[in-house]
Amino acid sequence: MPFTGYAHKSGTPYPSVPGTASRAKLQPESQQDRTAVPDPASPTQGYAIGAGAYKLSPHAIVFPEYVGPLAAHPPKDQRDAYLSGVFKTDLPHQQIQRSGHEGYYQALHERAEMCAACHDVTNPLTVKNRLGRWVGGFPIERTYSEWATSRYADRPGNRNFDPRFKRDCQTCHMQQDFGQPGTAQTLYPDGHAAPPRAGRLANDGPERTPAFSHHFIGGNTFVTRLAGADVTETGAPEPYPELSIYSFTSADEKSPYHNAFFENVSSRGAITQHSRLAWDRLRNVLDLDLKAPQTADPGGSAPLRVTVTNSGSGHDFPSGFPEGRAAWVAVRAFDLDSGRELDLWDSHWKRASRGVGYLTREEMADPNYPRCKEWKLPAGSPDPYAVQFKAIASLGDGCPTLELAYATPLNLKVNGDGVPVDAQGKAIDRRNPRGVPVYEDRDHDGDVWDDSFRSSPPARAGPSR
Ligand code: HEC
Ligand code: HEC
Repeated sequence: MPFTGYAHKSGTPYPSVPGTASRAKLQPESQQDRTAVPDPASPTQGYAIGAGAYKLSPHAIVFPEYVGPLAAHPPKDQRDAYLSGVFKTDLPHQQIQRSGHEGYYQALHERAEMCAACHDVTNPLTVKNRLGRWVGGFPIERTYSEWATSRYADRPGNRNFDPRFKRDCQTCHMQQDFGQPGTAQTLYPDGHAAPPRAGRLANDGPERTPAFSHHFIGGNTFVTRLAGADVTETGAPEPYPELSIYSFTSADEKSPYHNAFFENVSSRGAITQHSRLAWDRLRNVLDLDLKAPQTADPGGSAPLRVTVTNSGSGHDFPSGFPEGRAAWVAVRAFDLDSGRELDLWDSHWKRASRGVGYLTREEMADPNYPRCKEWKLPAGSPDPYAVQFKAIASLGDGCPTLELAYATPLNLKVNGDGVPVDAQGKAIDRRNPRGVPVYEDRDHDGDVWDDSFRSSPPARAGPSR
């Protein structure tokens, strides 16, 4: 795969192959592997971020190109400094076995910026919504940006970086395997980096260290159970239910786009391991700490304090995507003698309830937004009285919305006409089409994206933050 995606010209420009024959034929050996990043001093190492910004080499149609960390001509006696820094052990550059096909090393494949081309998603729609607010620039998913300010990101200018925890997307997600959930909790079993995963990539290939797995598991246990991602004995994909093309979200319950709708629901192949691997991951992401007195008098009250720490994920938990991903804290108390569930008194809401964190059974007003008359919580939502980790999109009036396509970044800088402006205050319009929009860091925490939402308390990465 010939990813380049350089953001700007740098000291190490990308050398194109000067012709239609193979890289091995037309390029000197010294230029075939791309061991250097375009600009080590830039926070993104000189690569472009977001919007699927890859430059694709036409050579890849005919010839094998870059294959991850496998080099055609690995520098002699030189360790792979980047991966050695992650795993805290000397790892030599790996050489490709060329009997099968050619292939070259590309530094980008070991870096988070490889994933950032897609996992930093912005709504590009340049329209105003029905409240007159600008829709373009709304951050839908900021997984890379969240990572880039975490303790894991070895990037210039990241004040939160902790060298003990250096990890890119690949060295967590592609270290997951059966028995190794690949979260920071399990990759640092005693506070130190676990040895890299080793193994063969092909039956007749050499043993590799590190060997990168390709499960690509996130936090989704539902769709991964629906879809038969495995292949049949003949190599065809197992049959699976498909999301209907009419399946979008609309706030209007009568709209055909209101709910996700699957076709061929009865057509399922063999159950795959992906759902199980996702649970494996989720069980090793958060630390839950409960503080409560050992004993309490009958009929009296006892204070409970729950602390949630994101010590396993390399980005917010859950990451990005308002309306799609939510986590919340459920608390229930039981009398062990009678098995009776006890009432809990909530000191924040000043109300008693039998447990906190169940799903709602009917549509209700959201107590978090008493002034938002149009906004109703649909039945089956997480208990609004529970502490939630979720980014909440708004059309601009401060009320939540499910019309994600028309949500606005609440902290976008605009001029008097409501048009976004660049850093010089110049309107971004047809006379200034390359202007870059500016977002305000309202809570001064170094993260501009969390201020784009009505409220955005997903658990930030790393216990110290
Ligand atoms: C060419 C675009 C693209 C690139 C590059 C890419 N991804 Fe993805 N990835 C997607 C899409 C699209 C999905 C499915 C939608 C989703 O879940 O967000 C996805 C899904 C995932 C998931 C599963 C999410 C879930 O909810 O379970 C993980 C984990 C993941 N990607 C990790 C990575 C990592 C790590 C890299 C870099 C090595 C990477 N991706 C590179 C487009 C991409
Ligand atoms: C320290 C390990 C670690 C690193 C580094 C890491 N992830 Fe994750 N990632 C996780 C864990 C654990 C989960 C599941 C829990 C969660 O959702 O946060 C996850 C979930 C995800 C998901 C599913 C979204 C969600 O919240 O359910 C995507 C997509 C994803 N990661 C992509 C990335 C990308 C892209 C990068 C690099 C920019 C990255 N991850 C870096 C551990 C990591």
